[in-house]
Amino acid sequence: MKKVLLPLAAMIIVCNLMMVSSCSKSNEADLAADTTGTGGSSCDTVNMKYATNVQPIISSYCYGCHGNGSASGGISLDSYASLKTQADNGNLIAVITHAAGYPAMPQGAAKLSDCNINIIKDWINRGTQNN
Ligand code: HEC
Repeated sequence: MKKVLLPLAAMIIVCNLMMVSSCSKSNEADLAADTTGTGGSSCDTVNMKYATNVQPIISSYCYGCHGNGSASGGISLDSYASLKTQADNGNLIAVITHAAGYPAMPQGAAKLSDCNINIIKDWINRGTQNN
């Protein structure tokens, strides 16, 4: 009996360790990439600016495919002008809020936090300024 159970127990422990480590890794990545250091109640979404607040989010989550020489879907987002184009035509909010009929962004990754989405929305609501 013990001979069968021991390897099984070892496997379960290894599995759990793997799950715990991958879980904490993704949490760390989320925290590191949450450029405002917020999450939860302390999310500041008032008077959001392009350079200070919005560009760091886009850089963290989108430049891998839409910046630094990459333009997935023919779209680059690594300048104020190119991001404004996608904001003005409605695509930016549609893709990050996972609106029906649009490809969900960031592609193949978790949806942006509500905080980050609200930061981008505030910037757009204030006229999508180059500030
Ligand atoms: C892993 C690569 C990848 C990442 C990361 C990524 N995208 Fe995309 N994006 C794509 C691809 C591929 C397409 C074209 C998909 C299609 O047309 O179905 C696309 C298309 C788009 C479009 C055009 C949608 C349309 O309807 O024409 C926008 C806007 C966009 N992405 C914004 C973003 C934003 C904002 C982020 C970050 C929050 C982001 N993407 C992150 C790969 C990516």
